[in-house]
Amino acid sequence: MTRRGRTCTVSETRNILMQLMQPTTANVYGYVHGGEIMKLVDEAAFVSATRLARTNVVTASIDHHSFKAPVHIGDLLILKSQVNFTGATSMEVGIRIEVERLRSGETCKVGAAYLTMVALDDAGRPTPVPQLVCESAPDRARHRRAQERRAERLRLRGKQ
Ligand SMILES: CC(C)(COP(=O)(O)OP(=O)(O)OC[C@H]1O[C@@H](n2cnc3c(N)ncnc32)[C@H](O)[C@@H]1OP(=O)(O)O)[C@@H](O)C(=O)NCCC(=O)NCCS
Repeated sequence: MTRRGRTCTVSETRNILMQLMQPTTANVYGYVHGGEIMKLVDEAAFVSATRLARTNVVTASIDHHSFKAPVHIGDLLILKSQVNFTGATSMEVGIRIEVERLRSGETCKVGAAYLTMVALDDAGRPTPVPQLVCESAPDRARHRRAQERRAERLRLRGKQ
């Protein structure tokens, strides 16, 4: 069976990456640098995309990344990722960025990001990915919204 013939469910791509925010990640006021979080977001996207493609994957674009609340030293960063949509060789990974304020136990959403990851073959060329299977109504809704974002991305890149 070719890789293109294989399918993969959304739940098989889900990952939760957690990391304690240490003093080395923050500025002098105790606020974690956005770039520290973006690096972990990229890692989370790599895991979810690799679970689908089972080959090398690279980040082609990060087209949405918002921070709605600060992350502080001592917070537990929680990145929940999943593949939302597959094209021929690319995938959109959506990441929900949460923190657990460890001293109070409060958990809140602090941001979100969407990344396009592309699967590569051993020669470094884009290679087909398995088709994504959405199992629930929320996953189907995410798939629809991801499809709209992809159309907009292609329009901006002048490919539609
Ligand atoms: C991403 C990359 C493999 C695309 O190569 P390419 O020759 O442009 O490939 P194609 O034009 O055939 O596009 C392949 C897929 O990538 C998607 N793609 C390419 N550039 C993209 C971009 N800037 N944003 C979103 N998707 C992109 C295409 O839409 C296509 O998707 P599809 O197959 O699902 O329809 C290439 O640009 C690359 O290697 N970039 C560097 C990636 C990297 O190293 N990232 C780590 C940071 S240094």
